[in-house]
Amino acid sequence: MKRVAILISGGGSNMLALARSMTGDHPARPVLVASNDPQASGLEKAAEMGIATAAVDHRPFRGDRAAFEAALLEPILRAEPDILCLAGFMRVLTPAFVQRFEGRMLNIHPSLLPKYPGLHTHQRALEAGDAEAGCTVHEVTAVLDDGPILGQARVPVLPGDTADTLAARVLAEEHRLYPACLRRFAGG
Ligand code: GAR
Repeated sequence: MKRVAILISGGGSNMLALARSMTGDHPARPVLVASNDPQASGLEKAAEMGIATAAVDHRPFRGDRAAFEAALLEPILRAEPDILCLAGFMRVLTPAFVQRFEGRMLNIHPSLLPKYPGLHTHQRALEAGDAEAGCTVHEVTAVLDDGPILGQARVPVLPGDTADTLAARVLAEEHRLYPACLRRFAGG
């Protein structure tokens, strides 16, 4: 059985979709949900599911990414994960951290990569006049929102869409795509 740690920064709806999928004959189980924001509501939801949680507030580290990551690493290493899933984790990780989990760290990004790495993906898709949008699950490498693509899901951009309506349509697909990709990845 593969052990999965999930990193979040907010509501954790993708974390929940992942955690709920890891039952029965699924080859993995969630062992930790960790956040850089102690107020992230996803932490409570994970605890309600009986998953161990950890919060390491990035703010006291004042931009010292290495020190923040050293602190974040402690609960992660204690949980002995085989796989790390970034699920709405909004801190950029240093190459040193990424290297430690090379080949076993996944991320979900709300665009059809390589289009729109970074932030405000839905607004950028609307401004570009794209006919479709979507989400991507990929392996994490030292380059932001790069790395081998494990799966993508597409949705249409509809007349009258705002960044919010488009984000909601994409998020529904994220909740299907990420569990499917994790299952395949964990199953080798
Ligand atoms: C999701 O849309 C995810 O793709 C995005 O943040 C949202 C988190 O929602 N991630 C990124 O933008 C990463 N750069 P959630 O907390 O409900 O899963």
